[in-house]
Amino acid sequence: MVSSFFSPGLLTAEEKRKSTGNAKLSPQTQACIECHKIYTPGIVKDWLSSRHAVTKPEEAMKKPALEKRISVNSLPDELKEYAVGCYECHSRNPEKHTDNFQHMGYKINVVVSPNDCRTCHPTEFEQYTVSKMGNAYRNIMRNPVYHTLVNTTDGIKKVENGKIVFQNASYETLHETCLGCHGTKVEVKGMKKVYTGPAMGEVTVPDLTNWPSQGVGRENPDGSIGACTACHPRHSFAIEIARKPYTCAQCHLDPDVPAWNVYKESKHGGIYDSKEDEWDFSSVPWTVGQDFKSPTCATCHNSLIVSPNGNVIAERTHDFGARLWVRLFGLIYSHPQPKSGDTTIIRNKDGLPMPTTFINEPATEFLIDKAEQEKRFDIMKNVCKSCHSTQWVNGHFVKLDNTIKETNEMTLSATKLMVEAWEKGIEDKTNPFDEAIEKLWIKQWLFYSNSIRYASAMTGAPDYAAFKNGWWELSDNLQRMRDMIDIKELTKKRFPEKGSDKKQ
Ligand code: HEC
Ligand code: HEC
Ligand code: HEC
Ligand code: HEC
Ligand code: HEC
Ligand code: HEC
Ligand code: HEC
Ligand code: HEC
Repeated sequence: MVSSFFSPGLLTAEEKRKSTGNAKLSPQTQACIECHKIYTPGIVKDWLSSRHAVTKPEEAMKKPALEKRISVNSLPDELKEYAVGCYECHSRNPEKHTDNFQHMGYKINVVVSPNDCRTCHPTEFEQYTVSKMGNAYRNIMRNPVYHTLVNTTDGIKKVENGKIVFQNASYETLHETCLGCHGTKVEVKGMKKVYTGPAMGEVTVPDLTNWPSQGVGRENPDGSIGACTACHPRHSFAIEIARKPYTCAQCHLDPDVPAWNVYKESKHGGIYDSKEDEWDFSSVPWTVGQDFKSPTCATCHNSLIVSPNGNVIAERTHDFGARLWVRLFGLIYSHPQPKSGDTTIIRNKDGLPMPTTFINEPATEFLIDKAEQEKRFDIMKNVCKSCHSTQWVNGHFVKLDNTIKETNEMTLSATKLMVEAWEKGIEDKTNPFDEAIEKLWIKQWLFYSNSIRYASAMTGAPDYAAFKNGWWELSDNLQRMRDMIDIKELTKKRFPEKGSDKKQ
């Protein structure tokens, strides 16, 4: 090992001032930095630009309630007085971490999980862990119906004797498709040696499966769920990044969940695009009309918003469903929000883990009631009313109610056609997602109805309600389903031995 790795003076004067300004670095963190400055300088510089690098948690805890960026009230001494450095994050809760290992004389973890952030940010941890985003892995991998959708979409299909034979998807494919957003399950398979280059040679590290992954519902080697880094990329953890819509755009886009597309096309998005450079994305609390003049995703969904005279308009939440009363994302229909972020517990009348039946009877017991819907609606309306009049806002939401009713009806029409195809024996309902008419049925709710509802809810992107995956497709698709049933039926009558869809 080269001794100069540890020589002092590796930090520039400016970095020293910044990193040690009002907060000291712990001796362990100093050691990490002196070496990582050489091997991963990008990480060190990024961290140096963060609030973590310059803030003593002790001082952060003393701020007035509305200005606080940490929610913990007491910390052990060694965490109180040092800046939040490499060691402070990468050494937490070693007993829980199967990825804890000996690294250059220090016991550290590779993955810094939500449960580790919890040391200083317990409120965010608690809200996030019960949310849908926190449960996003479980919700698609442990629900047999949705898991069938996962495998039908992604698995290899082989043609054998003219028949299409399905295989389950490989985890590698899942990692870069569904689980790219929903998150993977990260486990430790033991230890391995990685050749890092001529200077350090082989370095021994935990052998992590399905990593890297920053999906929102990732399952971690310490048993916790989620990845705070989905929106707070390391190592700046800058609040500006989380508040800007590009962060959410990574996962919320068309055709199934076109929030970003709709936002980009809306007046709100247009104003944001023209003026974002003039706005303040780092102040806490966030003052409407002063720090920003048009909302981003965070403004409407989770930010702490205050008025210029300091009155709270909306409280911050890390349960992104907390201000939502209706689930726009229809599986199969739009319905009141589920009570729990873990949607695998839902059972509808048919005994299936889905929020409605195929003919839109809601699984009421598992969904929020009218009173709770009203409560959440009021929170959202309050956000709108910080910039709009009551009549403007009410007028907007009358349209949304109508959109939900009409798109649900269009889905029901498609469902009736699909049931007809099943009853006529043209398609087989064992797997409702794999045949031609079934695929059109999926498009009806997953792409077109969703798109229209997103456009309607998130203010003024009429193309996504009309021609782009909107009403045009919704109507056209229904006609296609009708025609395909007729063609398949005719084929079946003419050539009973063949059938038109071959599969096993
Ligand atoms: C003597 C040099 C040295 C010191 C001291 C050091 N590291 Fe490292 N660390 C490395 C090298 C080299 C790697 C491998 C880089 C690579 O994979 O290319 C590494 C890798 C890592 C990794 C990633 C492991 C993986 O599986 O990808 C983490 C996390 C890490 N270090 C954190 C720390 C922390 C926290 C400290 C301080 C407690 C620290 N390091 C101290 C040299 C050092
Ligand atoms: C889906 C995106 C997203 C995820 C995931 C997320 N955050 Fe945030 N976070 C935000 C946004 C947006 C803000 C800005 C809130 C505001 O303007 O008040 C924020 C603000 C914060 C803040 C600063 C303000 C404060 O005191 O709350 C902290 C600390 C924080 N998040 C911690 C976490 C932790 C810990 C996790 C993981 C358990 C996490 N976040 C996961 C989006 C996210
Ligand atoms: C606020 C907490 C925090 C601090 C401070 C922190 N890290 Fe990390 N670090 C993380 C998180 C979160 C990850 C992402 C791991 C994951 O979830 O997959 C990470 C990942 C890493 C990785 C592996 C991933 C990659 O991109 O290669 C290395 C290496 C690393 N950190 C080194 C450092 C070093 C060196 C420092 C100090 C300069 C540091 N970390 C400070 C939270 C932190
Ligand atoms: C040892 C305590 C500690 C740990 C552990 C910790 N933080 Fe922080 N965090 C802080 C402090 C202190 C601040 C700055 C507070 C202030 O400036 O008022 C902060 C600020 C933040 C902010 C706001 C940054 C900004 O630009 O305003 C975010 C986001 C954040 N942390 C996320 C995380 C995440 C995610 C983790 C886990 C990967 C984590 N923190 C781990 C103490 C901690
Ligand atoms: C680009 C990111 C992304 C990818 C890739 C992705 N999803 Fe999603 N998924 C989302 C988002 C965002 C939502 C939430 C939409 C909403 O709430 O309006 C979601 C929600 C879901 C839900 C609802 C779960 C529940 O019960 O709440 C299911 C089921 C689902 N996705 C299945 C899949 C399947 C199957 C795949 C792979 C074929 C997949 N997703 C790929 C982003 C993604
Ligand atoms: C890494 C991908 C990813 C990122 C980044 C992301 N989301 Fe999500 N989001 C998802 C997935 C996946 C779901 C669906 C979870 C489910 O239903 O199981 C979801 C669900 C949601 C929901 C549905 C309501 C609920 O109860 O959770 C809202 C609202 C939401 N996200 C808003 C945001 C906002 C705002 C941002 C940016 C600050 C953001 N998301 C960033 C993947 C992401
Ligand atoms: C002007 C405020 C506003 C903005 C800006 C906004 N949303 Fe929304 N969002 C809403 C409203 C209102 C709803 C519908 C209410 C409901 O679902 O209960 C909604 C619904 C959603 C849903 C549906 C959740 C579900 O359960 O089906 C997701 C996901 C979402 N928004 C994500 C985003 C993302 C990502 C962005 C930024 C690209 C964004 N929103 C921008 C107000 C907004
Ligand atoms: C931070 C201020 C702010 C917030 C919060 C806000 N808006 Fe807006 N909104 C604006 C501005 C500014 C415009 C542009 C007005 C114009 O065109 O003259 C606008 C435009 C609109 C439009 C017109 C779209 C069009 O192109 O015709 C609608 C509808 C709308 N907002 C609804 C809402 C709803 C609903 C909410 C809450 C869910 C909301 N807004 C929250 C500032 C805001």
